[in-house]
Amino acid sequence: MDLVKLEKLARELMGNRQTHNSREKGHIFNHGRRTGLLARNLRPLVVPDCSSFDDLIFLGGLYHDIGKGIEPHARAGVLLAREVLKDHLTEKDLEIVLEIIEKHNKIIPGNEHPFYVKLIQDADLLDHMGTLEIWLKFCYSSRRGESIEDTLGYWKSDFYQKKLIKWRDRLNYAQARKIFAERMDFLNQFIQRLEEENNGEILNLEELKDAPE
Ligand SMILES: [Fe+2]
Repeated sequence: MDLVKLEKLARELMGNRQTHNSREKGHIFNHGRRTGLLARNLRPLVVPDCSSFDDLIFLGGLYHDIGKGIEPHARAGVLLAREVLKDHLTEKDLEIVLEIIEKHNKIIPGNEHPFYVKLIQDADLLDHMGTLEIWLKFCYSSRRGESIEDTLGYWKSDFYQKKLIKWRDRLNYAQARKIFAERMDFLNQFIQRLEEENNGEILNLEELKDAPE
């Protein structure tokens, strides 16, 4: 399969779409690309001896939200992706990519999905954490004219904290939970610093006092 060509095709199809007015134009492509790359990078940590699926994992991530905006988007995505990809993949490879799209948002008891579905589920969720959460929230706040205080209030709210716990509990792999925790730590540091700078605080005040002219 020609991944360069299929990524170019994905950009043509999703790179201009805006299904949600608080996201940047092309978010579906950008988020899909990152999800595919992250899932492919996570794979050696959770299934070390299975590199033969890496291209399909990337493709599944790239196209997983192609149906976004036509709900249920996983089902719409299968129909769209079949049309788009059928002339580029073998029948066997196409079925794996479609399985990823179909199941990417289906959390079932015990979550007995194949590893390539579970990797995309975890990467899809992790793409809303850390610097990406900051990007998404700033886009959202800016479109709505919200202030820094509104943004800080949202991150500290029970609503957001409960959402985080729900997301963390949905992750399939321990390694994904570690990435989640690390991205969460970064966000908390960022929140603290934003709050301090928003109050005009000088963070290295002691160093500045001692520094030579
Ligand atoms: Fe997604």
